[in-house]
Amino acid sequence: MACNFDQRIDRRHSDSLKWQKYGDRDILPLWVADTDFRSPDCIINALKQRVEHGIFGYGSPPTELIDVVITRMADRYQWQVEPEWLVFLPGVVSGLNIAVRAFTAQDQGTIAPTPIYPPFRTAAKLAHRFQLNAQMRRQEQRWLMDLDALEPQLTGREKLLMLCNPHNPGGTVYRRNELENQLRFAQRHDLIVCSDEIHCDILLEPGVKHIPFASLSEDAQQRSVTLLSPSKTFNIAGLGASLAIIPDKGLRTRFNSVRQGIVPTVDILALVAATAAWKDGQPWLNQQLDYLRNNRDLLTRQINAVSGLSLAAPEGTYLAWINASALNVASPALFFERHGLGFSPGRDFGDDGFVRFNFGCPQSLVKEALRRIESAVNSL
Ligand SMILES: Cc1ncc(COP(=O)(O)O)c(C=O)c1O
Repeated sequence: MACNFDQRIDRRHSDSLKWQKYGDRDILPLWVADTDFRSPDCIINALKQRVEHGIFGYGSPPTELIDVVITRMADRYQWQVEPEWLVFLPGVVSGLNIAVRAFTAQDQGTIAPTPIYPPFRTAAKLAHRFQLNAQMRRQEQRWLMDLDALEPQLTGREKLLMLCNPHNPGGTVYRRNELENQLRFAQRHDLIVCSDEIHCDILLEPGVKHIPFASLSEDAQQRSVTLLSPSKTFNIAGLGASLAIIPDKGLRTRFNSVRQGIVPTVDILALVAATAAWKDGQPWLNQQLDYLRNNRDLLTRQINAVSGLSLAAPEGTYLAWINASALNVASPALFFERHGLGFSPGRDFGDDGFVRFNFGCPQSLVKEALRRIESAVNSL
């Protein structure tokens, strides 16, 4: 069935974090990473059926969901995952925070790219661990992480390498040789790797494939935690269905002991939604990817035509990392907000010269945003 991604659905009175932020002010909410698309019918129907049952006691991950995850990893990535490796979580951010606390001691630290999705930074800060940052550098049309430049700064007390693939905010989908370089770095410095792969299904660049870090080799598998969720792909972030795949028993025990009694089990409706999404959501996803690819192409073309702005087309995600530093305004995010555009401020990710544009929305909204951007820049 064809899905109507062009449809503008009013989210202002639906308890949406994204749409509540600006209330009735004329500011387009293009920030937090959910989309304005209705989820696929397979999810909505599965939820309706579960709600009709009428009993909502404590849940437990259904065998069907476990099977769907294992089959997905095997079919897509030739990665053989065992059921006991799966740790279900109510959110990927919980997984990032647990990983920092489980795998580093008080005087030890983490390594993460910069710029990066803000919870990578706060996970270290909240646990009072230090963090070294590997600079993402733009090479041609891609943002790549310069781990090697970090080598002289290492103290020997770094224990956890935090990866984001596809990368938020840069949209990089790492190639095998790039992942292998990350693995060699982790091996040289004896690091555990936490790989956040929440955006792994949103691949926009033709021919580019996602490769789970853990699938690289037996060693990569044994030193890693992979974080996954259907929440970005199928727009069900508000339900909070996520999981960690932790092949090594020792790491899994450490992870679970930090989680225990603090991080709750997954909501029963989230389990239903995740199962339906991963089992039956692919036809809808294919259509969504075509739609997002069009948005991305339009945005990249038009942003790069505006003097003072530049954008490397994201290979994955529905997020565009726009360099606005040449505008020479004190805060690009505040500047654009005054012109009716609600972007995520680059400062939160580690670079104040940028804004992040969430283009997971009807194209008419992207076009309206582009008109506002042009008129904002022309006003300078
Ligand atoms: C890289 C990355 N990880 C995690 C999350 C959020 O995960 P969750 O809502 O499951 O905590 C996001 C949302 O934007 C993200 O981009």
